[in-house]
Parts: sequence; C-alpha cells; structure tokens
Amino acid sequence: MAMKPIRKAVFPVAGLGTRFLPATKSIPKEMLTIVDRPLIQYVVEEAKAAGIEEFIFVTGRGKSAIEDHFDKAYELEQALETHNKQKVLADLKSWLPAAGSVVYTRQQEPLGLGHAVWCARRLVGDEPFAVLLPDEIVQHDVPCLKQLVEIYQQTGGNVIAVFSVPREETDRYGILDVAGDDSAALVEVRGLVEKPRPDQAPSTLSITGRYILMPEIFEHLGDHEKGAGGEIQLTDAMTKMIGRYPFHGYRFKGQRHDCGSALGFLRANIAFALQRDDLKDDLKDYIRTLSI
Ligand code: UTP
Repeated sequence: MAMKPIRKAVFPVAGLGTRFLPATKSIPKEMLTIVDRPLIQYVVEEAKAAGIEEFIFVTGRGKSAIEDHFDKAYELEQALETHNKQKVLADLKSWLPAAGSVVYTRQQEPLGLGHAVWCARRLVGDEPFAVLLPDEIVQHDVPCLKQLVEIYQQTGGNVIAVFSVPREETDRYGILDVAGDDSAALVEVRGLVEKPRPDQAPSTLSITGRYILMPEIFEHLGDHEKGAGGEIQLTDAMTKMIGRYPFHGYRFKGQRHDCGSALGFLRANIAFALQRDDLKDDLKDYIRTLSI
C-alpha cells in the first residue's frame, strides 16, 4: 500500500511562555529571535524544506504577532523599495508562505501540548501529519523534519525525533522504552513515560519537539485525559498507539537547542551567530575579550 505523504504540519504556539517572563508578557515566546529571525520562522522554514504544504498554527490570545509575521507587510515593503533596500526586501519575500497555505486556530485555554494538537484535528483531517515545537531548534544541513520524513518513508507509522539525555535529568523529559538496542539510530518504541525519576526511567532516550503522527492520535487526545503536571499530554495519547501502528524513534543528526530555557536560548543565539559570515569574526573577538 502506498504511504500517504506528510503534507501538513501543526505548530502549537498557544503556551504562556512563563519561563521567559517578563519578555513574554506581550510578545509571544515563539517570536523571540535567534540572531535576527524569530523562533517560529526557523521551524516553518524547516517544515517547508521537508515538503510541508500546509502550515497549521494553534495559537491563543496575545499571539497575533505570529499571524502578522507570516503576512505581507505592504507599508514596510514600500518603504524598503523607496530606500532601495532590495536585498532586505528580497529576503523578506523569500520565506513568506504561499497565500492560503497558512491556517490558524485557537486553543482557548493552554491545557497542555496534547490539547493544543487536538485543536488542529479538523484542519489535519484523516492523514498523517507533522508536529514541530518552535522552542526546539536543530542545527544541521539536513533539516530535522526532513530526516524524519525520510525515515517515515521507510517505516510508515509514527516517527519521533529522539536524543540522549544524562540519566539524572530524565525527570525533565518524555522518555522512551525501546525494544532492543537503545544505542541504535532507529529504535522501535515500546513505551513512553513523561518525566520519569532517574531510577525509574526505562532508558535515557528523550523525545524532542519533532513528530510524525498518525491521525488516530486525535481519537486518543479526544479523551482529554490529564497527565503529568495536570496537563493533557501528547505523550499519553502517543502511548496508546504503540503496538497498533509502527512506532519508531530516530536519533536525528544535528545540534539541538532548547530555546524554551534561558540558557538554551543564549546558546542558540551564539551558535547561530557563529555560523554567520557577517557576524562570526566580530563575535569571536568579543568573546575573547570577556574575562571568563
Ligand atoms: P512549553 O511547555 O515548552 O511552552 O510547550 P510554554 O508552556 O509556553 O512555556 P513555559 O514552560 O510556560 O515557559 C511547548 C510548545 O507547546 C505549546 C507552546 O506554545 C510551545 O510552543 N503549547 C504548550 C501550547 O500550544 N499549548 C499548551 O497548552 C501548552
């Protein structure tokens, strides 16, 4: 049977971003910038590079800056034209998604990631889809979601991006229970546990913010069962699909940055700036001057 292609991606962006207050009081966390691009733009570009054609944002109150970001800015474009800033103008136009390819729905209350994804059920319909969390950014020549799509084309079913964490930190992550060797690049998922204590964690492989999911996940999310932290967890609904569909974890290639924490965010800014020809030398010179 032909595998259905992954055409749609869901971006849950309705969280409160409490770890970044007061910055996120009136600015969506997803609009915080890594160098000069907002987090959300990195993941939208990643999705596009993986062949995604429809971009589904699950937003909330106070998030309209995200909608504006992916819309045409007539006055700005006109001003850039007038001032002959053609290069900036061309860049601004280059990443704008095609008209009609972006859709928005609102999660009325931030009840958890699982609930946010469930809010996209009618927009996704009956086909496998991707989920990308904008506060996790992966640096690699082959975008992380593209790596997952390539695995999905071999395995079908659910595919999630995974990475190793120190055992003493398992209680901060969704952890996999795997069949067989947990050091392999591709592992078969036997179970998932949200934030287990280090002595109870079935492995040290963690879920990261990139998923390819079967549409059946919506049936399980529809139960609205609360899990860890009193939130409706995506992990819990994924667990219910284990054994019913192929379910794999793929150790993605690349450097992951947890931009949802202040330290991860700062590291990402430095790492991305060091890749920029116009910034890297001056930044290195500056870092050398710091007496650390
Ligand atoms: P996080 O838990 O990292 O984001 O969720 P948060 O809740 O906004 O941040 P903190 O912990 O308070 O600082 C990961 C992603 O899921 C979205 C967030 O917007 C973020 O992109 N999310 C989370 C929702 O869309 N709805 C929710 O109810 C929870």
